Amino acid sequence: MDGRDLVRSVRILKPVGGLRAVRSAWRRRRIDAEALRPRGAERARVPGPVEGVEPLPGGGLVRFARSAVRVYVTTGGAVFWGWDGAEPLPSYALAGRPPEPDPRAELEPDKGGGWRVVSERVTVAVSRNGAVEVRTPGGVVLRRDVPPRWWEPAAGGPARWVQRSEVPADARFFGLGGRAGGPRLRSGTYRLWNTDPRGSFGPGDDPLYITMPVQLVVSDAGTHLAFHDNSWDGEVTLREGEEGAGSGHDRPGASEVRMSGGPLRCWVVVGTPARVLHGWTVLTGAPALPPSWALGPQHARWGFGSAEEVRRVVAGYRERNLPLSALHLDIDHYDRHQVFTVDEERFPDLRGLARTLREDGVRLVSIVDPAVKAESGNAVHDSGSRVGASGAFVRDSRGAVVRGVVWPGECVYPDFTDPAVREWWGGLYEERLAQGFSGVWHDMNEPVSFTPFGDMTLPRSARHVLEGRGGDHREAHNVYGLAMARAGYEGLRRLRPDERPFLFSRSGWAGMQRYGGTWSGDVSTGWPGLRASLSLVLGLGLCGVPYSGPDVGGFDGSPSPELFLRWFQLGAWLPLFRTHAAIDAGRREPWEFGPRVLEHARAALAERERLRPYFVTLAHLARRTGAPYARPVWWGSPEDRALRDCEDAFLLGDGLLVAPVLARGTDRRAVRLPRGRWYDRATGRAYEGPGQVLVDAPLSRIPVFVRAGAVLPVRGGDGTAGLEVWAPAAGRTGGGLVVRDAGDGWAEAEIERYTSRLVDGEVVVERVMAEGAAVRVEGVEVRGLG
Ligand code: GLC
Repeated sequence: MDGRDLVRSVRILKPVGGLRAVRSAWRRRRIDAEALRPRGAERARVPGPVEGVEPLPGGGLVRFARSAVRVYVTTGGAVFWGWDGAEPLPSYALAGRPPEPDPRAELEPDKGGGWRVVSERVTVAVSRNGAVEVRTPGGVVLRRDVPPRWWEPAAGGPARWVQRSEVPADARFFGLGGRAGGPRLRSGTYRLWNTDPRGSFGPGDDPLYITMPVQLVVSDAGTHLAFHDNSWDGEVTLREGEEGAGSGHDRPGASEVRMSGGPLRCWVVVGTPARVLHGWTVLTGAPALPPSWALGPQHARWGFGSAEEVRRVVAGYRERNLPLSALHLDIDHYDRHQVFTVDEERFPDLRGLARTLREDGVRLVSIVDPAVKAESGNAVHDSGSRVGASGAFVRDSRGAVVRGVVWPGECVYPDFTDPAVREWWGGLYEERLAQGFSGVWHDMNEPVSFTPFGDMTLPRSARHVLEGRGGDHREAHNVYGLAMARAGYEGLRRLRPDERPFLFSRSGWAGMQRYGGTWSGDVSTGWPGLRASLSLVLGLGLCGVPYSGPDVGGFDGSPSPELFLRWFQLGAWLPLFRTHAAIDAGRREPWEFGPRVLEHARAALAERERLRPYFVTLAHLARRTGAPYARPVWWGSPEDRALRDCEDAFLLGDGLLVAPVLARGTDRRAVRLPRGRWYDRATGRAYEGPGQVLVDAPLSRIPVFVRAGAVLPVRGGDGTAGLEVWAPAAGRTGGGLVVRDAGDGWAEAEIERYTSRLVDGEVVVERVMAEGAAVRVEGVEVRGLG
């Protein structure tokens, strides 16, 4: 532990009692030492030579001397292969049944004694010694896995394995969940183990709360996503390739996935970035659609000491005429930090508070921590103890309930991998709804148990139900937050079937988007933290989790007015726009930083409100297509290598490009534009991409560009709906999709399609009707003409 870790630990452990945490850490160590034998001697294995094949739907089974691989292509074009009998199910990532094998895809002989499956969008080939190649229909290799290798402990126990892959020399890696040092993942090793970084984190901290074995690889040859469906502890070592390395030869890029157990199976989706993300959500589920109020500005704080303070903060927004959509209550509104309780002294009439805020258009969102105070008399503890035959809480290998330490002190942990526990837990949200909360914020669900040393989580040997299969924390750890999200989401749906749940969760795994979004967690206050927050949002979006955002202003300490403002200006263009901070941090209300910051923050809020219909549209499109709201600038042109390396700007939907200010003292910045014409939204000046331009970035705003021809849904100051249209370049056309808010229920909203073109120097906007007819739209706000 270095000095910084020590400081972080002291800060965390002080409130919960250091001694207790030390004891718990030792206990954890002892439990694991007893239950998990050292691996001892191991036998290494590779598949060996091919021995035969068996055709099966969509592909077949290729048998080797010491293993076999099932490979098939699905009707949607996704490729699956699984070694040693691994099938797509069971899986925490997949949304229900895996897609059907493509009946037209068949196993056929490949060169060199191997086998291949050819389909419309992709070819997958298995060599005679077990290498697996994914090729484009044109035959270009996107990914080549060398034969895998397993190590089996002679004394029994899980086999660990390694899978090395090569990708084109020009490829860039993205994804692996939420990584602070991205979005481009440089050469290095990334652990797959959801982790609370203790205190707060910056770009150098890895891993964080959400890890996923999901790689998005972009190269000239094409884009692909590779998912190793395995939740065990593991690591991925990436090495970016090099063109013309050593005597003019390319050195391919490389990925090495090492897992400490669990199945070796892989899904690959190929295509354009949009196609790949769509294919990914076909596999793992459509992102939950947040209610439209969750796309408005939100304010949180750990340390709102009372109902009066909450009222004061909300009144602060109101008096200054600043929009506010939701206010979040952290653990301090709980009775002694116990989940599903209320401190009746400091919040004597929470229901009344919720009601009056709601009348003012402000919703309340509640934090929900998984750990339950280990104390009989605590209602959640007692009811959980009665679930099923052995209670709801995780036990150790001897059958004793595992205890950890979190905010309430000694705690026990619901086993969310047990369907009966999810059902029970989901029912507890009734209390939250009755208190008047409109949404939930899941926290500490890596899960965390405070310790001064070692891993801040449950013993690795702790037992989990794992949907009836049974197993231990080594397999359940990474899906704990995901399974908790499922419990919460399904509970809320049962309790309030007419409203879409609003849920976001600190930890999670592949597929978590089905239940909601996430946020940055405790990002450290400072310019590096600001950069890390953008990295997280973009990386998670490419892993299929489109709704997220940072703690605006950073979690700890006090940002300078300039840093706060720049963070606020970035946050205003991200899906979750929420100020939040730690109990010992400085204030984050926009008026706390002086009149100038307030004025500029007001402008950012106004832009957000004006574009709220655009955010609503992006939320709907994310649900239907998997495309994240905030996308790397290479999204539409992955062949543009300069864009692939651009990490300081992003596309917001198809229409906007946002170039936040990420460094102190900036009043101008360089922006790399994709091809086509782009307008600086503030000045109206046109720029031609591809290329880099230098633009003003005064304190009053960050540069935002609009694609020529874009049709954006907006809301006027008086609340009326309108369209903002930017002139297409001469000889070009443009357009946009609009999906209107259809309320907080489940009604399907229609997609409106618009086109724009120049006719005699005038911009004509038409709505394309279902039958193909075009109807001219009058009264649009035209910009960018001269
Ligand atoms: C964790 C969360 C943070 C929250 C705090 C207290 O650190 O990440 O957002 O404020 O716990 O609940």
